[in-house]
Parts: sequence; structure tokens; C-alpha cells
Amino acid sequence: MKKSLKIIFTFIISILLIGILFLGYQVFKFKYNVLDFENDFSKTSNIPVLIKNGEINFIDRNGNKKLDIYEDSQKPVDVRAEDILSKINLDEKIHLLKGSGMKSALGMSKNGIPGAVGTIVSTPRLGLPNLYLSDGPAGLRISPKRDGEERTYYCTAFPIGTLLASTWNTELVQEVGNAMGNEALNYGIDVILGPAANIHRNPLCGRNFEYYSEDPILSGNIGAAMVNGIESNGVGTSVKHFIANNQETSRNSNNAIISERALREIYLKSFEIIVKKAQPWTIMSSYNKVNGENVSESKKLLTNILRDEWGFEGVVMTDWFGGNNTLNQISSGNDLLEPGTREQWEELKKGHEDGKLSIKEINTSVNRILKLILKSNKMKNYDFKNSPDLIKHAEITRRSASEGIILLKNEDMLPLEKNKNIALIGATSFDFISGGSGSGDVEEAYTVSLEEALIDSGYKINEVSLNLFKSHFLANESSFKKYEGVLGTLMGMINPYTPPEIDYSINSIKELAKSADIAVITIGRNSGEGSDRVEVDDFLLSKKELKMIEVTSKEFRSLGKQVVVVLNLGGVIETESWKNHADSIILAWQGGQEAGNSVTDILTGKVNPSGKLPMTFPINLIDHASSNNFPMDGEPLDVKSLITRNNDKPLNKQEKNKDFTLYDEGIYVGYRHFDKAKIDVSYPFGFGLSFTNFKYSDLQVTKSNDSINLSIKIENTGDYVGKEIVQVYLSKVNSKIDRPKNELKAFLKTPNLVKGGSIRLQFSIPISDFAYWDENEKGWKIEAGNYLLKVGASSRDIKLIQNIDI
Ligand code: BGC
Repeated sequence: MKKSLKIIFTFIISILLIGILFLGYQVFKFKYNVLDFENDFSKTSNIPVLIKNGEINFIDRNGNKKLDIYEDSQKPVDVRAEDILSKINLDEKIHLLKGSGMKSALGMSKNGIPGAVGTIVSTPRLGLPNLYLSDGPAGLRISPKRDGEERTYYCTAFPIGTLLASTWNTELVQEVGNAMGNEALNYGIDVILGPAANIHRNPLCGRNFEYYSEDPILSGNIGAAMVNGIESNGVGTSVKHFIANNQETSRNSNNAIISERALREIYLKSFEIIVKKAQPWTIMSSYNKVNGENVSESKKLLTNILRDEWGFEGVVMTDWFGGNNTLNQISSGNDLLEPGTREQWEELKKGHEDGKLSIKEINTSVNRILKLILKSNKMKNYDFKNSPDLIKHAEITRRSASEGIILLKNEDMLPLEKNKNIALIGATSFDFISGGSGSGDVEEAYTVSLEEALIDSGYKINEVSLNLFKSHFLANESSFKKYEGVLGTLMGMINPYTPPEIDYSINSIKELAKSADIAVITIGRNSGEGSDRVEVDDFLLSKKELKMIEVTSKEFRSLGKQVVVVLNLGGVIETESWKNHADSIILAWQGGQEAGNSVTDILTGKVNPSGKLPMTFPINLIDHASSNNFPMDGEPLDVKSLITRNNDKPLNKQEKNKDFTLYDEGIYVGYRHFDKAKIDVSYPFGFGLSFTNFKYSDLQVTKSNDSINLSIKIENTGDYVGKEIVQVYLSKVNSKIDRPKNELKAFLKTPNLVKGGSIRLQFSIPISDFAYWDENEKGWKIEAGNYLLKVGASSRDIKLIQNIDI
């Protein structure tokens, strides 16, 4: 071999060796630091047997043959926690402050629950069990399959958060929460990582589907109902992401720069309502910063506001790998670091030895974590059976999804007549999307498509439309592949699954128009954590989709046939430019595993639509005030940022809307902005049609000491049985303060009213809810004077108004 060749060869081999060594080191580091640590503490402790002591049965957790205070389940939780605090040693305390790593998240933990993403570690010496934490907001996200087992562990995919908010029905949401909590109870999960109560600041936020609304009153009340439902099973929730996690772009380091007033009136408000109405077991701090400070290290947010002002009593945990400074996190009131790393554990130990983390601070957080453990079903040795009633839960899913579906348009088309031959158009009609991606996704057993559901309801799917889909599927089979498990989560973050769209030729649509009675077109969208949506081909329909709607409309209408468009979405899209082409529009959202059935229940009239918009559908994206300060171009997920800390760039390298975001619109989010700036919208906040009509009459308003009481008569004047959502907006007359024109203050949904039936709804609004945040006085202030109470069917359809002096 020539000398020069030899040099090149040696060089290449050396580079390869260095590469392999480097990779090996990284794998080792990851395994050592993140994956594979805490083995002793993460395994399920061997809980000692039940012992009888005179009259009391107790579990002798520490094996000392006598009843300790903490072992006595009759005693109050705080007394028992104090007793443990007097027995637990420093090392055990520090273990409790962080989870046992990522093993469980990757389904690798032998004793664990595959798919559960976090733990609270056990304390074997005292017989304290370890707890499991699992996502997420639309149902339990555990792995349905386990190595070496024939049986499955499926969970129900319930409707996404946005759909649940569209029901405006707190009782129903509580029922959904109860079913979700029951699955957690059955599968041995102690805390569900949800609900998610961030505000829809901009339509492009990739996680809006998990969140409820652009309005904090709606978000807060729906969120509180969800927490109460889940926790009625003795299973905890983790309300997330506290606070201002309103974009996914650079989510781990983004600095949200927000005025105190916008924070208080908009972003904190939904969480405040949840804390006050439901006292959740835990809250998850968000990745981002607020006004320069990491939320998980903010004493102001986690202690002064959350605990001292609102009275939150539970545990605050980080979002996964969130925050930078471990010691600051604990001392600011972020009690638990998830999923926990060896590095954090060592930092905590060293921090205490160096006098930077006091025993008082450690005890405060440990005490809260102990109370959570004591409340858990594990502590009661609950014998979980791994057998939730999935059939009953599927029924709840179907019913709740149909109640959150919104009828946006209906020109003499729906409900559909029987025995119609339906041309199903759009790939999503055949491959319906049940929910969003990432941690908000559920690995459900099945998703009912629109095709299946319509056939089940006795409709005929047009052969031509079926064949068009079939050949499209065969030609693009690989693009229809859905990934599951860890890979699914990662792929979902990089490229959320949406069925590839069919390119219909004009001739094939002509053929459909001739052979079918009506057209049902589905438009599908998907998104998820890790990245935001973009305007082109996502908020805006793609050219292919626009053509599909326009040509279908033209060809069908020319033959006197109608077209309904079904929107299978997780977030807002543009509707103004094409809505004239549709005779009906159904906003189906992503309705969970029974989604196709729920949409069909509306199409056929089995259920009269009663959902209303929890956000505005604007004409243009830029009409949102926040669009001036939002990452419009998106940015692919930086995978490294998922498990690393200290992602901050130096100040001079920081980019607007990525590293920092100016919330310049202040309190003018959603309809608060559109109403104030008098901007036309495509569909306003609170809007939704029904097959029937409602009459609003006899508004009576009275004032008691600390609240305003309203009562109003709602009558069903149409032909169908139906429910109505009634909204109360507040408006200050001649305000000296810059205030929104309308602010939602209360809402109620009637039960089903029969034709001619009526009900009197009673609202009670605390006068304290009339307050605004005074930036100068740094406090809530009620402006004296005249207010308008507007009762309406939407924010732009006010039926009755009453003046009141405060
Ligand atoms: C998400 C959380 C989720 C956690 C655990 C994070 O990436 O932001 O919402 O609960 O992962 O899966």
C-alpha cells in the first residue's frame, strides 16, 4: 500500500474509533445519568403484610410490629406526614425530591408500568410505595402491550381538551374526568399529567388541542370539572403547564415577556379558578421563562401567587427535564423534579452539604410529597385489577364528543335524510384523526372512521369514492404508517401524523357528483408538542384541499346536490375564503376513538348539535393581535432540548419569538381583541348552531352583598329537542381604564329542552369578578359605576342587556 493511502486509511480508522468512543460515552452518560439510576429506590418496595393490633387493622410498613402514627389510616394526612418526617432520614428525603429517571418512560422498567413517564420513588425502610405518573389530557397514555404477555392494557382515547371545552358542559366534563381517573385507578397510575389549562394565545400553538380556550373563565371552569372528575377516584392530577407555555418553538428556553395585568387577568386566571374550585393534587411548572425567570425557579409564581395568594396545598413538579438550577427550584417551591436525573440528585445533596439548600426547604417539599403519597391508592394497598370498563368509557367518549361538535353552518341540509348514497371525499374521511400527537396522544385500541360509522348507521358509501381512496392508499401505503410507543412519541413531535391527501381530478369529482346523492368532505389536521403550526398548508387550506372543496361544490351543486364539510382538527384553520362552497360545516375537532360515530350522530340528527366555539375563527391569521409576536414560521423540534438543561443562548444571540416573545397585545387575546378593535371574524367566540331555535326572555338582575344574581328564561321554540349554551358578558360603561368591550363572566348549558319546553337559568357572579388588575397599585381593583350585563348565544349575538350600578 502506498504511504499516502496508508495515512488516509489510518486517519479514517482513527476518526471512526473516536466516533464510536464518543457515541459509547454519550450512551453510557445517558444511561448513567438519566435512564438507569435509583435502582434501589425505584423498585416497588415489599410492603409488609396486614397486622391486627387490637381493634385496628394496619399495615406494618416499617416492620416494627407496632402501630406508628403514619401507619394509622384513621389519622389526618398532615399528622401522618409529620410523623414520617420525624422518622425519614436526610438521604431518603433527598431521594423523594426527584423521580427515578426515564426507564419507565421508555417502557424498560421491569417492575414498572410501561409507558408511565415518571415516578415518585419509594422509601423501602418505611414501607412507603413508589407512585406512577402518566400522561395525559385526553386519556391515559400507557403502553397497551407488555413483553411476554398476551393480554392488552388499552386505555380510552377521550376527546381532546379543545373539544371538551366546546361542550361548555362542566357536568359532562366531570363525567369524562371520572372515567379517565377510573382507568388510572385500574391500571395502577397514581397521578395523571393533565389537564392542560394554557390559554390559546395564537391559533398556531402546536399544543392548543390539549388546551381548552382563548378565555380563562371557560378554561378554568372546564379544567376544574376535569380535575374534580379524575380526583374523585383517589387519583391525582397535574394541571399543566403553569404558566404561559403558549408556544412550542424553543419551549425549553423561551422567555415570555408579559405585563402583570395580562398575566393576572388572562394567563394565571384559568389556573387560579382550577386551584380555587378543585384544589388539584399537583401542578406542573412550565419549561419557559416569564419575564426573565424560569417558571420552575420562580418564588413569585410558585409560592407567593400559587400558594400564599390562592391557597394551593399540593405538590409542584417540573415539566420533564425542565428548569436549570435544581437548588433554586426546590427553594422556590418546585417540590419535585421529573423525571429525575442522577446529576440533579447529586446537586441536591451537595447543595445541602454546602449550606445552599436548608433542611427547612427540603422538609417543606418533602412534607408535600409525603401527603400526596399518603392520599394515594397505593398507600391504601388498593388492589388494582387492570380491567377498566372500556365499553362504558367508549360510550362516554362518543356522547361527550358529539356534545362538543360545533355546527358552523347549515343551509337546509342537516340532519341527513336516510338511505342516501354518500360520496366520501378526503383521505381523513377514511382515516379519522382521534387526537393530537406527543404526550397528549393515547395509544387506543381503535379509532372509528367516518366511513365505518356511516356504514354502521345504514348509509351507502359511494363505490367510486371508495375506490378512489383505495387506489390512493395502495399507491401511498408507507405514508399511512402510524408509529407507536417511544418512536411514535418522537415521530409525533417531528412530524405529526395526518393521512396524505388525495389529488382528485375534475373528472373523478364529476363522476362522484353523478353517482352520489351528497358529498361529505373531510379536512384533517394534526399537531403536537415540540413544534408549532405554520400558516401555509396548515392554518390555510392547501391548494389540493381548496380545489377539492371548490370543484366538489361546483359539480354537486350544478346537479342540485349538497356538500357538507367536516373539520377533523386540533386547532383553528381559515374558513372565510371557502365557506360559501359548503352547504353545511361541522367542526368535529378530534373526538377520541369513537370520533366517526360522534360525527355521524350529528349528521344523522341522532344528536342535536350543542357545542359552541371556545375560541374565535378569524378571517386572517394576522388579525390576531398576538400574530405580531409569534413564531409564524415554526421551527422543527430540537431533539436534544428534550433532555438537556441550560439551553439559553447568550443575550446578543437571542432571536425574537424564539428565545423571547413579547406579549405586546397584553390582555387583548382572542375575542377581547376582535371586539375592541372592531374586526370582523369568520366565526365568533361562543358561536354554534343547533337544529332548533331558542328564545331568551325575562332577564332579571338583582344585587346581593357580594354578588350579582341573574335569572333568565330559555325556551326551545324550534322542532328538535336540544340544549343551549347561555353566556354572560360584562362591559363597563364609560370606563376610565383600558378594558375589553366584552368579558365572559359566566355560562350555563341547559339540559335537553323538548319542543316548546323552557327552563329558568340562575347565575351568580361574585362582584370581585368585576375587578381588573391595577398595574400602579399592584392589586385587583373594582371600578365603581355603571356596567352592562349582556346575556347572549355568542360573544356577537347578545340577546338581552341589563344595566347595573356597582
Ligand atoms: C410535556 C408534558 C408531559 C411530559 C411527560 C413533556 O414533554 O411537556 O406535558 O406531561 O413531557 O410526558
